[in-house]
Amino acid sequence: MPAPDPSDPHPHLWFPFTYHDDLAAAPPLVIDRGEGVWLYDRDGRAWLDAVGSWWTSLLGHRRPEIVRAVEAQLGRLEHVMMAGFVTEPVLGLAERLARRMPPELGRFFLSDNGSTAVEVALKMALQHWELRGEERPHVIALGGAYHGDTLGAMSVGDIPAYHATFHRLWKGGLFTDPPSCYRCPVGREPMTCAAQCMDSLERLLDAHRGRVAAVIFEPMVQGVAGMRVYPARVLERVFELCERHGVLTIADEVAMGMGRTGRFLATEHSGRVPDIACLAKGLTGGFLPLAVTAVKEHVYAPFRGAAGSGRILHHGHTFTGNPLAAAAACATLDVLEALDLPAALAPLSERFARQLQTFRDIEAVGDIRHLGLVGALELVSDRQTRAPLDPEARIPWRIHRRALDLGLVLRPLGDVLYFMPPLTITAEELDLMLTRARTAIEDVLT
Ligand SMILES: Cc1ncc(COP(=O)(O)O)c(C=O)c1O
Repeated sequence: MPAPDPSDPHPHLWFPFTYHDDLAAAPPLVIDRGEGVWLYDRDGRAWLDAVGSWWTSLLGHRRPEIVRAVEAQLGRLEHVMMAGFVTEPVLGLAERLARRMPPELGRFFLSDNGSTAVEVALKMALQHWELRGEERPHVIALGGAYHGDTLGAMSVGDIPAYHATFHRLWKGGLFTDPPSCYRCPVGREPMTCAAQCMDSLERLLDAHRGRVAAVIFEPMVQGVAGMRVYPARVLERVFELCERHGVLTIADEVAMGMGRTGRFLATEHSGRVPDIACLAKGLTGGFLPLAVTAVKEHVYAPFRGAAGSGRILHHGHTFTGNPLAAAAACATLDVLEALDLPAALAPLSERFARQLQTFRDIEAVGDIRHLGLVGALELVSDRQTRAPLDPEARIPWRIHRRALDLGLVLRPLGDVLYFMPPLTITAEELDLMLTRARTAIEDVLT
């Protein structure tokens, strides 16, 4: 056995998305408690959580209504399997979702996280066609897509750093041009297009006519790709093409659903309703892992059948329908309703948009993106050419470190600094978040 590395502050832990050589100089903060947008360590040092703990903290940390709901459920039952049994929190969740979702998306399959919600959606789509007697082996995704880290979800992922190694496991996916306005694949000025990037979807649907089960997309914003906001027109075109080709639509709302973009589902910006929608992350207010795959009744219909007919979805996780998580989700949906979220976000969202524009005076800010309470600054080494930063200089990493010194959690995606705070952030906290971000950027760049 090799000798333990004395510079490793956590010799027994393997951290996600982390270069372990960084740990000695930048050991993870030990967080003790949270409240609202704030995280605290044991000494009472505070950090404003500008990324909502990987986009889960929808209503702030330790939101009291959710704490009470989970505590109450803890006093009754921690878990029972969801085959042959169901619980009050799960029934309550189904009722609330049916009220909140577009009426057509009225049947819900529960699982554990964003990746499993996507796995379930993909399996439903593929088996749906098989049960209808059609061989449709393909799912098309958008260029630059991210749908999770399990194998099925990665098969529709298109970010080389995350996916290239694992795409060896299958024959390769089908991807459109990326709907990336700042680096538009068809050379249009940002946001003025008629969705020509989706000509590539049309070509794929034509080339694989009758063999495509579904098209999957992150509606309105490709999160992991760098908070790439794209116009609703692109989404409308995806729906039009899928309709014309009789292909199912899967909206991966894991990151942008639950009100983040100013609508409960980001897909609502297009005025269309997908055949399948995936929710997770903020669904429990960030308290516990839980996901929903919601479907229209026509997607579910072929799965109705007698024992032995094979009309069954062979999928389920041990903790499917966990009542603690379902209780947290019920409380989250109740708080959203009581606070009239996301509708009540509009003034804060406008303030956010205005404040983000002030970052234009920083030469390295190439693009500013915003929708609802999602904001992003793409840094470049040259504004004219839009050339990316020099990776050797590790500028985003240094800004992240400087922000921590200033009491702000920023976790860049590549060259993109983004903000995805809880929907309950106050105007003063929003201003503070952006002031600290500006200081961190200026301290590193000047
Ligand atoms: C759009 C999207 N889908 C799926 C996932 C995967 O969710 P999880 O990390 O909960 O598995 C993510 C995670 O960031 C995501 O952004």
